[in-house]
Amino acid sequence: MRAFNGDIEDIIRKRKSCRSYSDRKIGNDIMAEVMTMLRDVESIATSAIQLKYLGGSGTKGNERVGTYGMISGATDYIAIIARREGNDPVEIGRLFETAVIQLADLGLDTCWLGGSFNRKDFEGRLDLGSSEYIPIVSPVGYGKERFSILDSSVRAMVGADTRKPWNEMFFNENALNPLEKDKAGAFRIPLEMVRLGPSASNKQPWRVIVDSKGCHFYLSRDKGYGLKTYDLQLNDIGIAMCHFELTASQWGMAGSWKSESHPATPAEWEYVRSYII
Ligand SMILES: Cc1cc2nc3c(=O)[nH]c(=O)nc-3n(C[C@H](O)[C@H](O)[C@H](O)COP(=O)(O)O)c2cc1C
Repeated sequence: MRAFNGDIEDIIRKRKSCRSYSDRKIGNDIMAEVMTMLRDVESIATSAIQLKYLGGSGTKGNERVGTYGMISGATDYIAIIARREGNDPVEIGRLFETAVIQLADLGLDTCWLGGSFNRKDFEGRLDLGSSEYIPIVSPVGYGKERFSILDSSVRAMVGADTRKPWNEMFFNENALNPLEKDKAGAFRIPLEMVRLGPSASNKQPWRVIVDSKGCHFYLSRDKGYGLKTYDLQLNDIGIAMCHFELTASQWGMAGSWKSESHPATPAEWEYVRSYII
């Protein structure tokens, strides 16, 4: 995987979903880096996924069809192609966010689209096998200098500029004992980077319990949300894992993801994975 130009913490702090794009084209050098990076992300996948770049015409002039008017001015998109059977939305989330963070490091704007895009429209532009589909796409390009009314109104609708406080998401030893930021030690920055991540409708369903083994990640679902076509909230956990791992390894806490025995939790939390140091 290409090394980041910037500091991972800065990249995560600065990334914001962008829904209005300028006419500025992506230059050849950056485009070459993007293409190599997409192949690199595919190579770390443990299941059959592909990342495709849809350049040139994109949905320009046809945005209402492609993204239901949710994105404006974008000509280029990336799309992730997965198999209908045996796909893992956690892995898809981790991989797509790795690409998003890499694009941010290259100075490019993006916006995860899991709901507001026309799957048939995008699938029709790629030569997909009958067992394949597109769970997620994102526009890629340079955002307008200031957020547009479109951006501001979507951001206001989902409260995109706020995040839940630490005591609702991170816990020490058990789910009743909130972890104070000042007492999180070496996990403080990696967990803060989880908190700042994007999530579907900004619902931030991540819950983490820290104990002597490492960090145990759970999903606290909004009942019935994001399940219509695909499990969007498991994507959110993959995003959290991506941010956590990139930051933890930078802070010298290289670990690995395992399914481990984990602390008991409220019934509505689903255990997903543990980061074991
Ligand atoms: C899995 C997932 C699906 C998303 N789907 C959409 C979407 O369909 N339409 C959209 O406008 N934004 C979508 N978003 C973007 C979120 O609304 C956005 O990440 C969140 O509001 C936080 O804002 P930020 O990304 O600027 O930090 C999605 C984000 C994620 C992680």
